[in-house]
Amino acid sequence: MLIRMSRRDVVLVLIGASCFYIFSAFVTVSPNHSIIINTEYGGNGQTVTETVVSTATEYVTPVPTQPAVPLDLGLAQNFPETTVVAHAPGWTIFQNLYMSGGALLILTPEESRSSFPEFRLMTSTGLPGNLTNDPQRQPTSRDMAFITPDEARTKWGADGSSDRRNRVSTVEGTTLLFNDPSQFLNHFHFVAELMFGSWAFLYGAFADGTVKPPNTNPSPDPSFNAPLISTSTPKIDRAIFIHTDVDGWRDVPGFNGYFIRAVFPSMTVEVSTDWMDRVTATANTDIGRAWHFPLVLLTDRSAAFRGPICGWHTQRTAAEAWTVMAQLGKIDLIGNWWASMRAALLRYAGGDPHEELHATLQVPDKIVITYINRQGTRRHLNEEDNRGLITAVEELVQRKNREGKNWEFNNVHAEQLSLDDQVKVAAKSTIMLGVHGNGLTHLVLMKPNRVSAVIEIFLPGGFARDYEWTSRSLGMTHYSVWNDTIFTYPNEPKIPDYPDGFHGPNIPVNGPVVARLIDEHVTAREAGLASVDNSPAHDKYD
Ligand SMILES: *[C@@H]1O[C@H](CO)[C@@H](O)[C@H](O)[C@H]1NC(C)=O
Ligand SMILES: *[C@@H]1O[C@H](CO)[C@@H](O)[C@H](O)[C@H]1NC(C)=O
Ligand SMILES: *[C@@H]1O[C@H](CO)[C@@H](O)[C@H](O)[C@H]1NC(C)=O
Repeated sequence: MLIRMSRRDVVLVLIGASCFYIFSAFVTVSPNHSIIINTEYGGNGQTVTETVVSTATEYVTPVPTQPAVPLDLGLAQNFPETTVVAHAPGWTIFQNLYMSGGALLILTPEESRSSFPEFRLMTSTGLPGNLTNDPQRQPTSRDMAFITPDEARTKWGADGSSDRRNRVSTVEGTTLLFNDPSQFLNHFHFVAELMFGSWAFLYGAFADGTVKPPNTNPSPDPSFNAPLISTSTPKIDRAIFIHTDVDGWRDVPGFNGYFIRAVFPSMTVEVSTDWMDRVTATANTDIGRAWHFPLVLLTDRSAAFRGPICGWHTQRTAAEAWTVMAQLGKIDLIGNWWASMRAALLRYAGGDPHEELHATLQVPDKIVITYINRQGTRRHLNEEDNRGLITAVEELVQRKNREGKNWEFNNVHAEQLSLDDQVKVAAKSTIMLGVHGNGLTHLVLMKPNRVSAVIEIFLPGGFARDYEWTSRSLGMTHYSVWNDTIFTYPNEPKIPDYPDGFHGPNIPVNGPVVARLIDEHVTAREAGLASVDNSPAHDKYD
């Protein structure tokens, strides 16, 4: 049962502070299935309370260990009914979803319809979004509909005689069904939203165990203890991009194609023309036909934006998927859930994929600072500040090494490196630094540790949540820099802003301030080892 929330339901009481600890993060699943997330932060004698009522529903359908077997194209008259394994706005895992003539069909008796999420929270017409066309993106019966077992039998079933056999073909295995147009696929959003959210959701839905909430198991270790979860995520057989052509999901540097070949080498990809084959085969035929998807993850960006966590809170579609699974205790908060993706990419790139998973964030042996230098691209620093930043960080690293520490600095022009080399340098980074932009997507390759941080430089006054939310969802700290001003969660602006010059070539930054931030951050995290506190490390010193 789903409830529709209004903006008023997202209560945000904020009393400013600069040094925050998580006191508590309580999650309750109310009898009507809404998920209420109460988070209380504090520091400097001040408190921030945040309550989010999520429209997400906890579905408790038992998950099959084996995908359903293909339907026998034969005399069978009854088809398996549709169930929802997991749902968050924009993210829905179904068993036994059907498609005929382009509409996704939920096969269920009429009296069970109300147990399904609202269609508008699962799908849309797939049109590119803008601020005014939400009405045109609301799904219609051409996008999604219910079908009763009787109707399905009449349309597609065998009639019991030998000359009328059923006409439902199974698309075997697990399918990722992406309903978005290329608008947000052909760049950063593909890996750091679509694949990120898909994996969080699939991993969580098939997790066997439940992670304990942060504050129920006090431990002398300062970092959050996340018992490792075992998961039996199914093999992904195919991805179908319903609304894009072969190039529509590819980005210019080629990272999207690289990513999916690296992590899902056996997955096949279908695009809109392939989908049209399936649509035409089942539309306007004298005899009805349908496709049967035994296990499918349907994602839709418009639907995710109709949920409170993405639409009102983070503007990250993946945040809907991640939050539900994190709050249900199905994924950890320190990035272990993403480890297999990271390791697969590094192995593919030729690096050492060795990933030892720990229940706590570890202290790295070496501090590797990677500056994603964008001077060769459109949005970048003014040249003088770029040089000042490089000099200041180089001096810091030299000083640390003179003091006997093991620090490294990489000034990376990503566009001049092969994808393999980009992956390798990102994977060994402890601190990633750069101007807001696609290059920071590589933060998803960093192995989160106690010191891990992303430092993002914006034009003063500008802010976007892309890398901020993504960093935090992996248990890493994120700092925003406005020239000589630094802020971090939860003191980031609540609303993204793109003032004039945001995308320009004249962004200022005070290099020595950034170098001092890195020094103080690392020193604080290393000192944190001695303290006794079980608040999440990534919020502890912010
Ligand atoms: C569901 O329960 C929550 C908390 O118990 C409440 O805030 C919300 O209004 C309820 N929604 C409906 C539709 O009953
Ligand atoms: C928004 O998208 C619709 C199509 O869905 C289009 O007709 C309209 O012109 C667009 N508006 C703007 C401001 O781009
Ligand atoms: C950046 O910060 C420095 C040092 O505080 C200041 O001198 C400079 O004017 C600032 N630049 C801009 C564009 O605000």
